[in-house]
Amino acid sequence: MSLRKQPPAPARPNRCQLFGPGSRTELFEKMAKSAADVINLDLEDSVAPADKDKARKNIIEATHDVDWGGKYLSVRINGLDTPHWVKDVVELLENASDRLDQIMIPMVGRAADIYAVEAVVASVEAAQGRKKPVSLEIIIETAAGIANINEICAASPRLQAVSLGYADFAASMGMATTGIGGTQENYYMVHAGRTHYPDPWHWAISAIVAACRSNGVLPVDGPFGNFSDDDAFRAQAFRAATLGMVGKWAIHPRQVALANEVFSPSDTAVAEAREILAAMEEAQKNGLGATTHKGKLIDIASMKQAQVIVDMAELIGKG
Ligand code: COA
Ligand code: MG
Repeated sequence: MSLRKQPPAPARPNRCQLFGPGSRTELFEKMAKSAADVINLDLEDSVAPADKDKARKNIIEATHDVDWGGKYLSVRINGLDTPHWVKDVVELLENASDRLDQIMIPMVGRAADIYAVEAVVASVEAAQGRKKPVSLEIIIETAAGIANINEICAASPRLQAVSLGYADFAASMGMATTGIGGTQENYYMVHAGRTHYPDPWHWAISAIVAACRSNGVLPVDGPFGNFSDDDAFRAQAFRAATLGMVGKWAIHPRQVALANEVFSPSDTAVAEAREILAAMEEAQKNGLGATTHKGKLIDIASMKQAQVIVDMAELIGKG
């Protein structure tokens, strides 16, 4: 074991992040009443250039007027290569209520991108005397972002979550893919006459998870574009959960329940995890570091795996 302990990720549920354009105010109340843990009001790609100023005002008003309940409220600003992002940050922090929890930075390519935003955030917060510092989340959606993932995840104590943004990522990587996320028709293997479809995103997801986990940051699976295909969404979400991600975006409200289902441990999994913890505690009392549970080896590493499940269950009030 390295002397440096793995820092814990923020202890808040992040099973589903529901997105909505800042220009569609009629969606805000519906988003607030949804079952998503995190709300992302968007100023970037879902808002047309001519609507950016209006969308910013809408979002500021909504931080005052909409009852967001216990949701974690995040606003996606425009990228650092646009004429909008400084205005986004300054106007939000000068005028939004303390209900604003987080700012999401898209298209992050290097640690310095986060530093630049953080410098503006810190300056405006100090000038305004804001009591509650906002946290940051970012999207990895470029080749540079994935190449520099480790320095990015270590960039700032404000950084709480990192998402994989499939469409821009695929474009930046020059991947010959269609659709946003999911298995790809031309990414297949043939064995014994049968066709298998491996996961073309496996490496990127695992790289993000490793960099996040080693820095106490939440790794999040990004959008799944075909919101009419529940099975495909579920399959992508299960793959991400299996690899260590904590949640997934919803770009349509019907995806919220699916994400919550996949990223909440089932009653059976929680019961099993508690049994493993109890069996190991018993073993340790008897001076043993390993024992058997239902015919399988369990040891200290099994306890850690079980604890992850129990911690999540407690976080979402399932404990
Ligand atoms: N949040 C909450 N409610 C939403 C919603 C959202 N993001 N999108 C749609 N709804 C509501 C609709 O208002 C409608 O409500 P109603 O039953 O009360 O009339 C219901 O859900 C069904 O909506 P539907 O007609 O299927 O969708 P739409 O055509 O209005 O919008 C999208 C479809 C994809 C354009 C819209 O969901 C959207 O803008 N999603 C987010 C896009 C985004 O933010 N992208 C950036 C990140 S990738
Ligand atoms: Mg994008």
